[in-house]
Amino acid sequence: MRRILVTGALGQIGSELVPTLRERLGAERIIASDLRTVPPQAPMGQGPYEHVDCTQPYQILEAVRRHEIGVIYHLAALLSARAEEQPQVAWSVNMDGLYNVLEAARQYRCQVFFPSSIGAFGPSTPRDRTPQVTIQRPTTMYGVTKVSGELLCDYYAARFDVDTRGLRLPGLISHAAPPGGGTTDYAVEIFRQAVRYEHYTCYLGPQTRLDMMYMPDAVAAIIKLMEADAARLRYRNAYNVTAMSFTPAELADAIRRHIPAFAIEYRVDPVRQAIADSWPRSLDDSAARDDWNWSPRFDIKTMTADMLSRSIEKRWAPKGA
Ligand SMILES: NC(=O)c1ccc[n+]([C@@H]2O[C@H](COP(=O)([O-])OP(=O)(O)OC[C@H]3O[C@@H](n4cnc5c(N)ncnc54)[C@H](O)[C@@H]3O)[C@@H](O)[C@H]2O)c1
Repeated sequence: MRRILVTGALGQIGSELVPTLRERLGAERIIASDLRTVPPQAPMGQGPYEHVDCTQPYQILEAVRRHEIGVIYHLAALLSARAEEQPQVAWSVNMDGLYNVLEAARQYRCQVFFPSSIGAFGPSTPRDRTPQVTIQRPTTMYGVTKVSGELLCDYYAARFDVDTRGLRLPGLISHAAPPGGGTTDYAVEIFRQAVRYEHYTCYLGPQTRLDMMYMPDAVAAIIKLMEADAARLRYRNAYNVTAMSFTPAELADAIRRHIPAFAIEYRVDPVRQAIADSWPRSLDDSAARDDWNWSPRFDIKTMTADMLSRSIEKRWAPKGA
């Protein structure tokens, strides 16, 4: 059985995907990789770790060859807000990185997972129940790399028969690792601040509705799609998936049911607000439901309860305590 390589494994998704894969398939089969040269301690758990810079083709090829890799989960990327700060670097990491992964996959016959995003849509896309196939004219460098990445995956599947699979993930909420500079990071930070200070200053306006998902559902979706029957998959670029859609004001209300004193104020960051205003408010994920039986477990109520209990468990306690 060939092994699995995860790039960008130390990020928000990798920190939860790697332990789940290790538990399911055995720690030794999962090669975690990222820019850091020193192997990380927990929460990644025991198991092999490699330094792999995805912009360096020989590093990807070498890791795939040496570890006899058969599946690549390609998570390395710059997220939306960081990509807008450094568009040139974002193009290099997001596009050259994916190209290098797909080339290695072509040569060594690997299956590839590519995470696209709601950022692959733009202001001219229908914003409510955004269809699977629709207008994709994003106005951010992040979105440009995600649409291009989707097309590149489609191309490698059609032209070279590489088994590419992708998801258009919404904003992800999790407690294991801090978010990496995206527009929906507020929906993670708010929990830490609620538990520590009963107060949060939000960089998006109160009525900014965005599509969201709790990390256990995202990890389940990734694994379910990768294990799905190839013959049933109509789309090789990426599938819409969604679990919930809410505004900062609605999330604050949900938190207040557990922490009545919680207060939120708004100091809008024009860059991230503009990005959010160009994204869908909710996605139509019926293609994913039809083709590989996707359905989420968590809604805003159950996610909020779980996030708060885990945040308290992790002792995101008041400063100085
Ligand atoms: N987190 C979300 O809300 C979300 C939503 C939609 C899509 N996605 C996509 O999922 C993927 C993973 O997201 P994440 O939230 O875990 O991101 P993250 O920013 O938390 O982690 C990305 C990781 O990539 C690594 N990295 C950066 N440049 C690299 C390089 N040149 N070579 C190797 N590694 C490099 C970073 O060190 C980091 O550990 C990305 O493609 C992202 O666009 C994330």
